This record gives sequence, structure tokens and C-alpha cells, in this order.
Amino acid sequence: MRIFRFTAKLSRYYVAVAIASVLVAAANIAIPFVIGQATDQAVGAISGTVPTAAAIHTVILLAVAFFVLETASVIVSSIGGYYGDIMSQKMRSILSVRYFDKLLTLPQTYFDNELTGTITSRLNRSIMEVTNFVKSFANNFFATLLTVAAVLVISLIYSPVLALLLAIIFPVYTWLTALTSRRWQRLEGVKNVDIDTAGGRFNEVISQMRVVKSFTQEHRELVRFRKRYTHAERVTEDQSRHWHWMDFIRRIFMALIFLGIYAVIFVQTVRGAFSVGEMVLLIQLMNMARQPVQSMSYIVDTAQHAVAGSQDYFSVMALEPAPRPRVTSAPVKSDADVAIHFENVTFGYGDDEPVLHNISFDVATGERVALVSESGGGKTTITSLLLGFYPPTSGQIEIFGRDINTLSLERLRGEIGVVFQDASLFSGTIRENISYARPDATDEEIRHAVRRANADHFIRHFKDGYNTVIGERGLKLSGGQKQRISVARATLKDADILILDEATSALDTKAERQVQAGLDKLMEGRTSLIIAHRLSTIATVDRIITLRDGHIDEVGTPEELAHSGGIYAELLALQNEGSRAAKKRLRGYEIF
Ligand SMILES: Nc1ncnc2c1ncn2[C@@H]1O[C@H](COP(=O)(O)OP(=O)(O)OP(=O)(O)O)[C@@H](O)[C@H]1O
Ligand SMILES: [Mg+2]
Repeated sequence: MRIFRFTAKLSRYYVAVAIASVLVAAANIAIPFVIGQATDQAVGAISGTVPTAAAIHTVILLAVAFFVLETASVIVSSIGGYYGDIMSQKMRSILSVRYFDKLLTLPQTYFDNELTGTITSRLNRSIMEVTNFVKSFANNFFATLLTVAAVLVISLIYSPVLALLLAIIFPVYTWLTALTSRRWQRLEGVKNVDIDTAGGRFNEVISQMRVVKSFTQEHRELVRFRKRYTHAERVTEDQSRHWHWMDFIRRIFMALIFLGIYAVIFVQTVRGAFSVGEMVLLIQLMNMARQPVQSMSYIVDTAQHAVAGSQDYFSVMALEPAPRPRVTSAPVKSDADVAIHFENVTFGYGDDEPVLHNISFDVATGERVALVSESGGGKTTITSLLLGFYPPTSGQIEIFGRDINTLSLERLRGEIGVVFQDASLFSGTIRENISYARPDATDEEIRHAVRRANADHFIRHFKDGYNTVIGERGLKLSGGQKQRISVARATLKDADILILDEATSALDTKAERQVQAGLDKLMEGRTSLIIAHRLSTIATVDRIITLRDGHIDEVGTPEELAHSGGIYAELLALQNEGSRAAKKRLRGYEIF
């Protein structure tokens, strides 16, 4: 019912399918009457009560009526099937699109904690199961159920005992099924977890094949994968044994009821209460009722899959979306003095220890500020908070004087261009990737951004240039090439605030100088937050903020901090020592 309410847009199709089902059921129900009539005519002719010629005339008409009914039933059920197919496809579209839409609103923490493949596998399974049920229901089940209802009513007219016997079957059958269902559902849930987890790992392995191959872990991955499926098999054994045992009980019960039903029909006919024609009619009607009860196991089976599937589906749909800020319409003043303002910001991922403690700092508009800490010190986390990926545990973040909680995410993120630490590209062409933020960018704008990122050289070398397809997540590009594409992507976005998280770390010194020159130009008149492990790249920033143990340690110009003995000075000394040692080694080679 929830699914139907959820897809109320399709009600036109539901009505069409329902009408088709009623018509098919009516045609089906009429057929036994025609056969019953024909039987009575035949018996009459044989016993001499009806003239043979008249009887032949009638039975031929009845045969034609049979043909007409059958044809009508075929036509209507074909049309109904057509609408059923369209309906289930539309339902699949609606459910899939809503699922995707929902996922796009979920907070980053959800994606931190779920495997991509698990999310995908769950989508496919649950939606397939729901739509399969709806499709079978539309094409089959509904007409069947209507037929059964009609048979009940008709048998009531002929014999209340028959109707009663028939009526007993359904509630008892449903009750027995419900008994089976709880355990079945639980086991199905266990199985789904297995299959989704295996699917999640599967995706991860496929997308990181190089890692798997280089560590030669194919076998272990395979074993892990198989283990999940083997477990699912074992659960199925349990589940299926339970199901079929209960099914056996249900069907034996039904056979007993039919024993009673046929006994009544035969005995009453022998006694003369029913004519032979009526007997034939009743036997056919009972057979019509028997078949759906038998296929009810299948209906219930499919319905249970659908219920289990829709539960998974709705459990995702019920997740809280990332809180939408209370948006005020006041414009962002990008001419405010302070571009970025952190005030007593404390933050930890999930229930873990806070990564950041009471972080407060300002970045003036147009200023270039570098964040320095040891690896894992929380630099990327600060940029994630600024982008609103996670809400701070406490404290306040402002851009251009506005609390980021009062900005719509589009506005907030529209103000910020980012080069991520892990250059994250999409499959597709170079052009598509560069123009990701602005699909309508002109060729000239794209070329300009590319030149700034010093990427024109290598793009020109590709046979297809800007139309080169770069593989999943940019797999076919080198690390440095990916980085330059992602610099170009941020450049083209042309936002007021720029975050460069290790934007040039994968480049050789020469390429880095060139990209840096482009970035320097880009940063002119923009507020920039720069993170770089290679300290030479941040030697020219206006100020450096250092973090230690999640606290701000020092703030100052590169010159000041170089001599303060803090973490920057420490790291600087280590890097200089490194390069001195390298120089010495090089000199050693020369002498040698
Ligand atoms: N999505 C996440 N979920 C849970 N913990 C996280 C997540 N991202 C980062 N962390 C943790 O937060 C801490 C800070 O990570 P962060 O990525 O901010 O460091 P960083 O300063 O950028 O380091 P690096 O210089 O190596 O990039 C680390 O201890 C890390 O384990
Ligand atoms: Mg980082």
C-alpha cells in the first residue's frame, strides 16, 4: 500500500489494469456456464428430451460463444498486460529516481559508512522485487483473485455447503502463510545483508583492480565473496525447508477440503440435486478456484520478496536528509572584510574523539592562508566543515560575515572552488570533467582554465584532445594529469573562495612551478585556503595557521613561523635537511 501511495501518479494505470482484470475475470467465469449448458444439451439429446437437430444448433452456438469469450479474454488480458508492463516500468523509474534523489540529499556521514556497491545492490534488488510483484499482480494475480471471489458467490447460489468449504480455504491458507512469513522474512533479511555486502565488496574490488592484482589478493577476495554466497545458500536451505514444509501442510489441508467439495458435488448430482451440466459447471468452477489457491504460494512468495524489498527501500527513504539550512534571502557580501571565520569550532567524526578542538581563525578577503599540520592533523576536515559536508559539533563558521547555516548549500558551495586532495574525476571526457560546475562554459573559457592549470600541453598530445575519455574516476590519466584537470575544473568555477588541498602534490617540480604560477594568478583577488605538504609551495602565502593535536598552534607569516620553533619550523627543518641530504648525495655522485 505504501508503494501504491508512493506512486500515486500511476493511478491511471492502476485503474486500467483493474478494469482489464475485471473483464478477464468475467470472461473466465462465463466459460464454465457455456460448457455446462452444452453438457446439458448433449445429455438432453442423448436421453431424447431435446430434438437432436435443435441440440446441435444450440451446442454450435455455444461453441461460438466459447470462442468469443476466449477471444475477448485474450484481447483484454493482452491490453491489460501491456498497461501492466508500462506501469511496472514507470514504477521502477519512479522508485529509482526517488532513491537517487534521496541519496543525493543524505549527509556525507551516510556515504562514509556505506559501501558504494551495497547502496547499488540494495537499489537493484529492492526495486526489482517490488516491481516484479506489481507486474505479476497486474498481469495475473488480480484477475485470479477476482475470479476466486466470483466463484465463491456463484457456488453460494448452487450450494451453501460448497461455498462454505471453499470459503474456509482462504482464511486458513492465509493464516498458515502468515505463520510461515515471519521466519521467512527474517531469513530473507539475513540473506539480503549477505548479498548486499558481497555486492559492495565486489564493486570495490572491481574499481580497485590494480591494488588487488598488485597484492595478488584475487584468491582471498574470491573466497570472501564466495563465503557470503555460501552463507546465503545455507540460509536458503533453512528458509526453503521451512517454507516448503509449511506449504506441504497448507496443500494437504487444501486437498482435504477439496475431497469434501468433490464428494458433495458428486453425491448431490447422483441424488439429482444437480443436473449433469451443473455438475460439469461446478467442477470447472471449483477447478478455477483451486488453481489460484495453489498459485497463492507463488503469489505470497513474490509478495514477501516485495515486502522485504520495500522495507529495505523505505528504510533508506526514511533516513534523515542532511539538515537544510534556514535560508535567509540576504545576499552574500563578497566585499566583506572577513571571508572565512571559524569561531570555537569543535568537531569529531561520528562518536569518535574530536579531531578539531576550539578552532578559531579568520581569513581576510583576498588573503592567502595556508594550513599546516602533521598528516592526519585535521586540515582536510576544516575544508569539509567549510563546505558544509558535516555540521560542527559546536561553534560557528561564517563566510563573508554570514553563518553558513543560513546559506543554502547551493549558495555556500557556489562561493567555493575546491581542488580535492584525491583528485576526484568522473568517467567521461576531459571537457565534461573540466566543465563539471559550468556545463555551459564556452571553449574559450575552458581553454583559458586549462592553460592556467598547465594542462594544455598534455591534452593537446591526446589524439582526441578535449574529447578524450578518461575512464572510471580518471583511471586513464596519470596522477599529475588528474590533478591538473581538477585544478582546471576549480579554475573554471571562478568562485570567490578557493580551497587547494594538495593541489600540486602529484606534480614534478617543473610542472608544479608552472601550475603554481597559474594558481598564483588565479588566487589574485580571491581568498584562498591552501594545504600543501611540500612547504616550498606555501612559502609565499600571507599567513600560515598550524594545527597540533586538533588545536591551533600558531598563526603568523611564513618568516615568523620559520623561526618560532613551532610545528612549521620543525617540518621546514626536516624538509630542508632532506633536500640538503639529497644535494649531498647528488654531489657525491658528481665526485664519483
Ligand atoms: N570521513 C571520516 N570519518 C572518520 N574519520 C575521519 C574521516 N576523515 C578523516 N577522519 C579522521 O580525521 C582526522 C583528520 O583527518 P584529515 O583528513 O582532516 O587530516 P589531514 O590534516 O587532511 O591529513 P593529511 O595531511 O594526511 O591529508 C584523521 O585522524 C582521520 O582519521
Ligand atoms: Mg588532508
